[in-house]
Amino acid sequence: MAPLVDVRVCADATDLAWRVAEDGAAILVGAIRANGRCSLALSGGSTPRALYSRWASAFADRIPWPRVHVFWGDERFVPPDDPRSNYRLARETLLDHVPCSPENIHPMPTTVSTPDLAASRYETVLREHFAGGGPRFDLVLLGLGDDGHTASLFPRAAALDEHARWVVPTTAPADPRSRLTLTLPPLNAAAHVFFLVAGAGKADVLPRVLDRQADVRRYPAAGIQPDGDLVWWVDRDAAARYQTGI
Ligand code: 6PG
Repeated sequence: MAPLVDVRVCADATDLAWRVAEDGAAILVGAIRANGRCSLALSGGSTPRALYSRWASAFADRIPWPRVHVFWGDERFVPPDDPRSNYRLARETLLDHVPCSPENIHPMPTTVSTPDLAASRYETVLREHFAGGGPRFDLVLLGLGDDGHTASLFPRAAALDEHARWVVPTTAPADPRSRLTLTLPPLNAAAHVFFLVAGAGKADVLPRVLDRQADVRRYPAAGIQPDGDLVWWVDRDAAARYQTGI
């Protein structure tokens, strides 16, 4: 019997950000208490912005930021100061406001000559961080595109069939087309995965992704079936059709 999906419906995007900030902080603090550090993979997109701002303000003193290693689940292959950069989003809303150790912030290297070289370099960073063992993020944050993508795993992408490499270059249907993404294995090896989904624009795709029969090649987010905990944090607008079961 497939495990029940843990979908937590929040009143709105603000409520979602507060609840994810609390539960995410508890995971990070618990991992640091157990292991002396934690490994966090951030998402891009617009939804996590409110979460990052809350972590930077109300949680600046509640999370031992010097012990947090920050990674990214995907990145646009643009310079780090490009307005489309996921690294820039996180730096502006979170990392410039909390005392992370600079050596513990691990952006995907988007200034090297090619996306493939960047992916290989990042994979080396990850393998060294996880000391030659398997990737074991304590918390991975993910968004959901209205086409069912997550990270930069887009429908029918070759990256969905990649089971050896942890990081690969991909091509997005929208600008900027050149992307880097973690593949399904490192995402699914995480101890905790949080999806953050808000807005009426996600109401149609959410039930399709959560359908147990979902085709991962059509709805890549359905391929996120982690060994650890998976929580879908959704606001009421995004859950409108899922709740009614239409
Ligand atoms: C990116 C993200 C992408 C995002 C979804 C949802 O680089 O854009 O990794 O997967 O999470 O597209 O984006 P929104 O949160 O803006 O809806």
